[in-house]
Amino acid sequence: MGGWLLRIVNGNGHFACCGAYVAPLVVITSGNCMEPYRNNLNGAEVEAIAMLKDEENYASIETVYTPETFKENHNLMDIAVVKLRAPIKGKMTEFIKLCDTDINDKMTMTSFGWGYSSFSLQDPSNIPRNFTVPVQNIRDCKKEWLKYGQDKISDTVFCVSHPTQDRRQCVYDPGCPLIWNNELCGIVSIDSSCVDPSKPGIYTNINHVKEFILRVSANVKLG
Ligand SMILES: *[C@@H]1O[C@H](CO)[C@@H](O)[C@H](O)[C@H]1NC(C)=O
Repeated sequence: MGGWLLRIVNGNGHFACCGAYVAPLVVITSGNCMEPYRNNLNGAEVEAIAMLKDEENYASIETVYTPETFKENHNLMDIAVVKLRAPIKGKMTEFIKLCDTDINDKMTMTSFGWGYSSFSLQDPSNIPRNFTVPVQNIRDCKKEWLKYGQDKISDTVFCVSHPTQDRRQCVYDPGCPLIWNNELCGIVSIDSSCVDPSKPGIYTNINHVKEFILRVSANVKLG
């Protein structure tokens, strides 16, 4: 398990973003997470986290695509399609299916991450952690979000409740995935934090950006 969960590292080998592996040359993450790196992809790589000994588990990044309507620091169309130079090898490598189910507030999803966004609470773990999070009613979330005075909740994101009892049970790392029924349904967007888990987690809704992902992926295969 976990063969689809990837680490995107910058040219210095440091963690940059989570990635989700959806096709041999295609990795999905958030636009906001990739923005600082996209013009300097020298040495930037994607690493599989699940691998067998002695296997090569990485590939370098060729290009990063974001939608025209995406703007840094905003949650509208916050998605990036990362094109690899070669497929990631390894017997444990697998792809995750894009979300195929409408998201509603009766669902609970699984969030993944290392805890980079909450290192003031505890050190990031070596292996990714996962937690169950309930989807929030989108109208309630939009209303609640107004009090934070930040970028408003766009129609391409949805909200989940972070665990509030124990903040260590919260992960919200840049570009990390949210899974429902083995489908990739969400990607961490911006403006939330595990330091204040009363704030909802804001995730890009894969159903609402799928067209962009599929269009870019189709071109990637031709190229
Ligand atoms: C979630 O984490 C637990 C350990 O807390 C692990 O046993 C389990 O395999 C993980 N599940 C997934 C789907 O990664």
